[in-house]
Amino acid sequence: MQREELMAETYPVLQSAESHALIDKAKYEKWYKESVENPDKFWGKHGKRIEWFKPYTKVKNTSFTGKVSIKWFEDGQTNVSYNCIDRHLENHADRVAIIWEGDDPSLDRKITYRELHEHVCRFANVLKKYGVKKGDRVTIYMPMVPEAAYAMLACTRIGAVHSVVFGGFSPDALGGRIVDCESTFVITCDEGLRGGKSVPLKANVDKAIDIAARHHVHVKSVLVVRRTGTDVGWASGRDFWYHDEAGTVAADCPPEPMNAEDPLFILYTSGSTGKPKGVLHTTGGYLVYVSMTHQYVFDYHDGDIYWCTADVGWVTGHSYIVYGPLANRATTLMFEGVPNYPDQGRFWDVIDKHKVDIFYTAPTAIRALMGAGDDFVKRSSRSSLRLLGSVGEPINPEAWEWYYNVVGDARCPIVDTWWQTETGGHMIAPLPGATDLKPGAATTPFFGVKPQLVDNEGKVLEGAADGNLVIADSWPGQMRTVYGDHERFIQTYFSTYKGKYFTGDGCRRDEDGYYWITGRVDDVLNVSGHRLGTAEVESALVSHSLVSEAAVVGFPHSIKGQGIYCYVTLMAGHEGTDTLRQELVKHVRAEIGPIASPDKIQFTPGLPKTRSGKIMRRILRKIAEDDFGALGDTSTLADPAVVDDLIANRQNKE
Ligand code: WTA
Repeated sequence: MQREELMAETYPVLQSAESHALIDKAKYEKWYKESVENPDKFWGKHGKRIEWFKPYTKVKNTSFTGKVSIKWFEDGQTNVSYNCIDRHLENHADRVAIIWEGDDPSLDRKITYRELHEHVCRFANVLKKYGVKKGDRVTIYMPMVPEAAYAMLACTRIGAVHSVVFGGFSPDALGGRIVDCESTFVITCDEGLRGGKSVPLKANVDKAIDIAARHHVHVKSVLVVRRTGTDVGWASGRDFWYHDEAGTVAADCPPEPMNAEDPLFILYTSGSTGKPKGVLHTTGGYLVYVSMTHQYVFDYHDGDIYWCTADVGWVTGHSYIVYGPLANRATTLMFEGVPNYPDQGRFWDVIDKHKVDIFYTAPTAIRALMGAGDDFVKRSSRSSLRLLGSVGEPINPEAWEWYYNVVGDARCPIVDTWWQTETGGHMIAPLPGATDLKPGAATTPFFGVKPQLVDNEGKVLEGAADGNLVIADSWPGQMRTVYGDHERFIQTYFSTYKGKYFTGDGCRRDEDGYYWITGRVDDVLNVSGHRLGTAEVESALVSHSLVSEAAVVGFPHSIKGQGIYCYVTLMAGHEGTDTLRQELVKHVRAEIGPIASPDKIQFTPGLPKTRSGKIMRRILRKIAEDDFGALGDTSTLADPAVVDDLIANRQNKE
């Protein structure tokens, strides 16, 4: 089938989903209506899904204008780790909380809620022993081991604010994040292990600490979890082994009562300009929202085995490996490895091994595994699977079909979940028993979410339309500010379209009211589901001594979704060679991390600029897409001849 035909298909709610589901069509309509017409009543009721030490009397107190202020359940008190662990102990202490599946298929571990309680308490007491207090920022730079979850939960237990940095980021990127939130306590591992290869996490931390010190942020303590047992550099008095410390502290640690609006975590994410922003989430609203979306979007039933393949370094890992599932007393699977190790059947083998009911992954992984052929899938039974999920980027209908028919044997609904680091949890997604599916559509809004499409002037578009996606009112999981820079929060999200939260995404709404995300409309790239600002890659490139100027754009890539295309102008007198290309790729990897590796580098004597000096990215995008037939108006360029040279030397010829 052609793409258009696939997109025109509708997959009615499956009978199996319908008979089983928590929400059906009528209930969705009713609840949605109440959630947007009377948010105080709706969330006042659903806020009680978590336990409060002190009940809230106020529910919603939010404003998207002026200084922008977002508060939910503001006079309530609770604790996240208490909700994710302690409250399950009375009746379900022996239920498995975390199934850990190692990189090596022969390694796995099961941690019950009782065990989780002890681990997290000890971890929290070690943090306290080293002087970590409520409100302090703790940087976590860990691979996918249970200790990463213990560390996060331990922070929440004592009211410290964690900043998890993805283990694939470079020492520079890590150092910058340590500096931005002035974090003086770092938790890491000796090494990580992915696809049989080790990642030098502790060595990277050492470098990052030196970088931070140059910016006057001095890390006082590094807590190191042993994973591979390799020798690592050691600063005595600063570095401590977790296994030495855990036995020296008590196995119980009372959870700190936290106000609903106390900071919970900071997570850095890329925007269209400048360095990554510290997205700040707070305690009460976030937990209510992630637990509620986890339950209804995944149609989670008590006892289900749930697996999200993301890394805890991204928001998906925060909300849907750790906080949402554990708040719901789920068994959450944490996978240390990669989809193609030891071979391309690993995901499907793990599903059989642990009898996974709900499986949540990214389109980039689906496309890569689809390319490996069906045999890897067919050798597994996948009979335990009931539901599939997708996140991170638009899923192309071809990949959707394969996921549905081959992986899910046409028995499992696919929930395509659109959301962002900023939104905390799912925003637009099907509900398994309530929503008919269309391949490639994120479908309809979750409870309390008011999406709108606007044109470039901010005019609200009605009915079937194509426009910029904004959200008209607040929901409990929304970010509260950019850490340390509220003005940037207002500028980035609420100034483009006054009084509305701007998502940065383009979107189409069809005649059935379904939302189809078309991708970013700003200068943010989505490479293998990872967000990356073009400005970040540009600044990494120009930090190389031979580079004078750089402009970076995305281009369609069959596996990654988007690839990274770099236009580079060199310092006078230097030649663009293949060796230099390789050197620049290495340089960007060192500055940001492997996820930012340029796919194409084109050397050019100049960039297309307007007479006022603005780079015309539209032209660069077209050339990178090898679609330069319709470049549009180039008459405003300072030097139109630049374009001919760019076309002649393009790196992406058909
Ligand atoms: C994109 C990841 C289409 C989108 C949870 C968004 C998606 C950005 C989808 C946020 C989806 C995420 N369909 N696009 N189901 N999910 N996106 O902050 O462009 O890493 O703005 O959060 O990913 O990426 P982030």
